[in-house]
Amino acid sequence: MAAVKDLAQNVLGKLNIGSSGAPPKEPSAEELQALREKYTKAGQGQVFTFYDQLDTAEKATLFQQLSGFNPEHINEITNRALNPPKTESEDATPKFEPLPTSATSSVLDSKPEDLQRWYDQGLELIAENKVAVVLMAGGQGTRLGSSAPKGCFDIGLPSHKSLFQLQAERIWKVQQLAQKKHSKEEVVVPWYVMTSGPTRGPTEEFFEKHNYFGLKKDNVIIFEQGVLPCISNDGKILLESKGKVAVAPDGNGGIYQALITSSVVADMGKRGVQHVHAYCVDNCLVRVADPTFIGFSASKDVEIATKVVRKRDAKESVGLIMQRNGKPDVVEYSEISSEMAEAKDSNNKELLKFRAANIVNHYYSFRFLDSIPQWAHKLPHHVARKKIPSVNIESGETVKPEKPNGIKLEQFVFDCFPFLPMDKFACMEVRREDEFSPLKNARGTGEDDPDTSKRDIMDQGKKWVQAAGGVVTSEKEEEGVEVSPLISYGGEGLEFLKNRTIKAPAVIEKED
Ligand code: UD1
Repeated sequence: MAAVKDLAQNVLGKLNIGSSGAPPKEPSAEELQALREKYTKAGQGQVFTFYDQLDTAEKATLFQQLSGFNPEHINEITNRALNPPKTESEDATPKFEPLPTSATSSVLDSKPEDLQRWYDQGLELIAENKVAVVLMAGGQGTRLGSSAPKGCFDIGLPSHKSLFQLQAERIWKVQQLAQKKHSKEEVVVPWYVMTSGPTRGPTEEFFEKHNYFGLKKDNVIIFEQGVLPCISNDGKILLESKGKVAVAPDGNGGIYQALITSSVVADMGKRGVQHVHAYCVDNCLVRVADPTFIGFSASKDVEIATKVVRKRDAKESVGLIMQRNGKPDVVEYSEISSEMAEAKDSNNKELLKFRAANIVNHYYSFRFLDSIPQWAHKLPHHVARKKIPSVNIESGETVKPEKPNGIKLEQFVFDCFPFLPMDKFACMEVRREDEFSPLKNARGTGEDDPDTSKRDIMDQGKKWVQAAGGVVTSEKEEEGVEVSPLISYGGEGLEFLKNRTIKAPAVIEKED
């Protein structure tokens, strides 16, 4: 509960509610004394070291920022992250197993009639305005080396569409498909976009500038996740400058608190949403609001479902979906032992034993999201050791460390999976080339970078055109075709290309 209150305060602080736009006022001597005592009692009094040297506005800002955190709670979650408690049922060695077959399906071997039934059912739910999507776009994309939000990134397609635009156009298209098939006047798939302190402003500007990519502004809801202070290796809250605590987004698991404090769940409730697709910003192939996945999950009546692809090799940086002591769970790539990563399937030595790679495409029932306040406080924090620029308390100088000097505390979006019994969880294996090509690294890395993202979209388009009876010619074999999501969501509707010759590289943006 304390955590929820902290966050609410934090959010109110960020929104500047109550200040009516006026510059923040310096706190009274009593208010300052009370807050100082609270931090000193928690062993975190160093955050006030430079307070007296600050000007009025800086004092007010620091006071406001510090008021948003409860230092005892920060100590507690830091301690718990560094020394995770063992759960009662967990003996010294937890038991990891692949998911049972009862919880998994694969598009690779599902019957065509099942796939069609799921697709039809999902599209019908979309037509009934019962489906929403949530995008996690609060990450800072440090590995990509760009300071703009990842969603704004141009992966170099001939159209120069950003990741946000590709996703928006898929939403637009799936609305159209549902509207046409079910003869509806208007179909709306609301898009809730989670940002964080660093990504909110530039994300909002980008959406405004691009006129919400043709979607109605009212149906694109941008909200913000929380932040947590960065902590030094000896457990102290770090200052970014003399008047500012170093903070970082609280991980993509911060989504759950944020869905409640930003009234997203309440808004979904008002709109009558029953089924939610949540996904990561960095996957250029993501099938946003995928009818097949929605239909699959809804027909199984589960609370959560996930999509997976087959893990590329033992070293790939992906989490793995499995069962841990009989409960659904994900073991993250940063936390897996090499023994487990390399273990082979006992029935087929060619395959990894744990190969269900998490692509962070989740289905949630509205029911489950509505129950967040009952379990969000149980989500653990994980430790990410980082180089955090911070002020040296003795010298007052800002230091850019060469080695990790502290930790960021992060929640993971999948840490609520084990709260469910296995029969309320399902997993769907999809083809990597159809649905997963993440943008993680800077150009030139050769793996999960802008060039591989572009290649995978162009390859997919080429396959779709050929499947529709079009002929693709090119000077270089690797050249592909970019098919606009406004024309085709998943390869459908391209009959007009039959017997036509397309010279790659090309863009199919219109029907003529
Ligand atoms: C994530 C998954 C990993 C999966 C991989 C597939 C988690 C914890 N890990 O790892 O299991 O195999 O993707 O690509 O989910 N984000 C926020 N707020 C934050 C931090 C991140 O919204 O505070 C968002 C990012 O914007 C991004 C997504 O979460 O959309 C994933 O973040 P990232 O840090 O790139 O995850 P990975 O480490 O690659």
